[in-house]
Amino acid sequence: MKRAFVIGHPIAHSRSPLIHGYWLERYGIAGSYEAIDVAPAGLGEFFGRLEAGEFAGGNVTIPHKEAVFALVDELDPLAEEIGAVNTLVLRGEDVVGFNTDYLGFLGNLDQNAPGWDKGLDEAVVLGAGGAARAILVALKARNVGKIHLLNRTLDKAEALAIELEGRIECAGLGEFGVRAQNARLVVNTSSVGMQGSRFDGLDLAALPKDAIVTDIVYTPLLTPLLAEAQANGLRTVDGLGMLLHQAVPGFHMWFGKKPEVTPELRQRIEATL
Ligand code: ATR
Repeated sequence: MKRAFVIGHPIAHSRSPLIHGYWLERYGIAGSYEAIDVAPAGLGEFFGRLEAGEFAGGNVTIPHKEAVFALVDELDPLAEEIGAVNTLVLRGEDVVGFNTDYLGFLGNLDQNAPGWDKGLDEAVVLGAGGAARAILVALKARNVGKIHLLNRTLDKAEALAIELEGRIECAGLGEFGVRAQNARLVVNTSSVGMQGSRFDGLDLAALPKDAIVTDIVYTPLLTPLLAEAQANGLRTVDGLGMLLHQAVPGFHMWFGKKPEVTPELRQRIEATL
């Protein structure tokens, strides 16, 4: 029986066992996917278990994403470009690191806002932390003309823009109103929106009327940013779809079946939020 995992510390809140458990059941695959609490001091030992063949692979979440990037035997080229790993696959005795947030972000928009990238000349990305990386690389891959990367700490945005290259222009959050004028996509990659936090003073009315606003935060599902966008008559895509779609490539690689993100799966996870 093939086994997969998600490791993190803490890990109890993870929705990943529900997602993969749903697919295992739906496709009648005799496998398992379990949440395992691994403290930073125990990561090396856990890698030993993985290399010894106990698991087909698994997901990695906070606080291990950076440590794992350095520990893997091999990096998928996309994970290397993004500079972050969230999915591990055992190949022979080697642990290969992948980044599936890239496909999760694109899969979510492709499913819920088809055509979103057609002739997309400008986009605004909010936040320049770890989560921004996969999204910036994904937007570049879809040939977005210019990306305005706005962050509370300008230095962090500038460092990321230099590292990832391409047409990325950096500014503080206060410049949103100016930068938004021609942006038909806004992506929040920051943690703002969780636990009642919110951006103050983002002038969403400055956006074109056909702009799409999307958020990677999915607790709550309707973040203050998405609520305000809807109040301004803008189209929104919530972050739950990204969580579901980022799980697809991992399941495919561990269990040999490309799973589908269905309305039923979404309802099941939504019910737990
Ligand atoms: P992660 O690596 O998990 O993405 P992070 O590196 O701490 O976490 O990044 C979180 C992002 O949310 C950053 O862009 C952060 O802005 P700073 O670079 O200025 O820290 C952003 N962020 C967090 N809280 C914020 C707040 N209250 N207002 C604006 N931006 C915030």
